[in-house]
Amino acid sequence: MSDPDIKKGLAGVVVDTTAISKVNPETNSLLYRGYPVQELAATQPFEAVAYLLWNGELPNAEQLAALRATEREHRALAANVKAAIDLVPVEAHPMDEIRTAVSLLGASDAVGSGSVLDASGTPEQNLERSVRLFAALPAIVAYGQRRRRGEDIVAPRDDLDYSANFLWMTFGTEPDPVVVDAFNRSMILYAEHSFNASTFTARVITSTLSDLYSAVVGAIGALKGPLHGGANEAVLHIFDEIGEASNVNAWLDTALAEKRKIMGFGHRVYKNGDSRVPTMKAALDTLVEHYDRPDVEALYTTLANEFVARKGIHPNLDYPSGPAYNLIGFDTLTFTPLFVASRVTGWTAHVMEQAASNALIRPLSAYDGVDERHIEV
Ligand code: ACO
Repeated sequence: MSDPDIKKGLAGVVVDTTAISKVNPETNSLLYRGYPVQELAATQPFEAVAYLLWNGELPNAEQLAALRATEREHRALAANVKAAIDLVPVEAHPMDEIRTAVSLLGASDAVGSGSVLDASGTPEQNLERSVRLFAALPAIVAYGQRRRRGEDIVAPRDDLDYSANFLWMTFGTEPDPVVVDAFNRSMILYAEHSFNASTFTARVITSTLSDLYSAVVGAIGALKGPLHGGANEAVLHIFDEIGEASNVNAWLDTALAEKRKIMGFGHRVYKNGDSRVPTMKAALDTLVEHYDRPDVEALYTTLANEFVARKGIHPNLDYPSGPAYNLIGFDTLTFTPLFVASRVTGWTAHVMEQAASNALIRPLSAYDGVDERHIEV
């Protein structure tokens, strides 16, 4: 019999306070530092939202310019990081590649700042590390996709802001403003979501007074799983399996008979729909129009309507972002790495918040193994 005091998966358990974001499933809203995420996605560049998550306020023009200048300074792929990526088998999942790259950045940073023994760092050091990681990740993600396609690295461009430069480094072509805008919105929507599995992982690691990079490496590992970040990739696999809207019903009959989980649907916190979906769906719509792909819209809507009608389970953010990233031209394997590039802002904000009022995170367990026994001699 299960013990009612045990909250499997920590479901419904409030473990701490946070001032970074507020998820309200009743009103279907998500606030970053008090601002509705929809408003931020409609009005802000991702850099400004990163600043907001770290500092609690949106930047003024001067602060945004300073952040953008630092981001530009650190956006090129470091030679040692490129060499480390090249050592990762090209067939490996790119999340393994990114985990390795961030781990190396951490080791290099610890030596460079002389903080090998005092890894947890000061608040100022951690803010600098957060900005550097945020700046370094696009080149790591972009190079990963290019190397899997057998293409050469593309150097960053100083005349482009974060999102446009990210697309430039990935595709090596001038990005269209419609595409930059949709991509920027997705980065903002993925940036933060309270105590999700990867963020909680980062906070657990921070609570031991370990360093920010270790916390991010752990978070990357947690995000890799298909029940979390890996779902946006899985959505594309489902779209590929179904093919076109007219196949949805037959496909769903089989999938549900086989008791398959339909990736991109359901959420631990939101039970009546994910607050981020309408904004990402609107971004997807602009891409559908830009690339003239009504077939994608038809498949998206038919599957969503049919699954909601049959199971009452709503799409989550991964559902519209998967096809959006596909239309932009990202390989399916690159989707979860894009999530990393965005969520690193939320993770690092939580690392700093956890460090500022730390308590070691160490829950208890109820033992249900064999009774005490002894070795017979
Ligand atoms: N497809 C089919 N059935 C589902 C789905 C789904 N996507 N989601 C939930 N259900 C069903 C479960 O089978 C379960 O049914 P049962 O009671 O008959 O056994 C019931 O709904 C409750 O589901 P749980 O998995 O217990 O709910 P939980 O809150 O633990 O799960 C989760 C949330 C893990 C996200 C789940 O909905 C899921 O696996 N979804 C697919 C993966 C996914 O899209 N993840 C992305 C999360 S959002 C993000 O990372 C941006």
